[in-house]
Amino acid sequence: MQIIHTIEELRAWRRQAGSVALVPTMGNLHAGHLALVREAAKHAQQVVVSIFVNRLQFGQGEDFDRYPRTLEQDAAKLAGEGVAVIFAPDEHELYPHVAQQYNVEPPNLQNELCGAFRPGHFRGVATVVAKLFNIVQPDYACFGKKDYQQLAIIQGMVDDLNFNVKIVPVDIGRAEDGLALSSRNQYLSEAERRQAPQLFRELQAVAQAVESGSRDYAGLEKQAVANLAQSGWQVDYVEIRHAGNLQVAHVGDKELVVLAAARLGNTRLIDNIVIRL
Ligand code: PAF
Repeated sequence: MQIIHTIEELRAWRRQAGSVALVPTMGNLHAGHLALVREAAKHAQQVVVSIFVNRLQFGQGEDFDRYPRTLEQDAAKLAGEGVAVIFAPDEHELYPHVAQQYNVEPPNLQNELCGAFRPGHFRGVATVVAKLFNIVQPDYACFGKKDYQQLAIIQGMVDDLNFNVKIVPVDIGRAEDGLALSSRNQYLSEAERRQAPQLFRELQAVAQAVESGSRDYAGLEKQAVANLAQSGWQVDYVEIRHAGNLQVAHVGDKELVVLAAARLGNTRLIDNIVIRL
């Protein structure tokens, strides 16, 4: 496994590689990332894992500065996973014109759900992912379904801007108690960690109600928000949306997704469940 820091070296490597699957990450790898890597290996001869903490997708007051940079430990976790290359550029390598940076501007969906609480976040994600696609030229790229809105925005970017890459969505990895795996779980105190699976349980309750015939989507969302708030969560949203285009769900839609984002203390967690009726 090679660790490559420059675009030039990565491109030289790419010219002689066969098919490539990319797993874009911000590092601080956990079991959820390793599941993405194992999925990537099923699709292509070579797996590239990019590790880059992308300043553009963090808002003011978010955790860019304290986001853990753990390249050495990440490389140790990836050794033995059949990864050909870790691409770990520094900020100047990826953003040399920081004051005059071109951006990829996603459509309106970027301002809804998580985007309503994190202005500019999805522009930052789309921009860095577009750059990684242009640099690595992968045939496949794997993204976790936990970041459901991110996945939808990236798929839309690939379709609309004709990137020659197949997006592979990967199921959410969960701890035994149901908590979705996330780098941010490590910020939780012991008490918060015990409470955190409640987010998934509330989503399950909404999904069960819908599967049992309830179509009062607004009422179900409101109830879930109230339950979480009562237990001390600061809730950004719980919403039922169309699973395909993430538009507001209508009675009659057959594929739905219940999405939530909420804070326990200083830690913002997201999760979702897809419902097929
Ligand atoms: O999901 C993430 O870790 C990031 O948003 C990504 C896709 C690596 C872009 O920085």
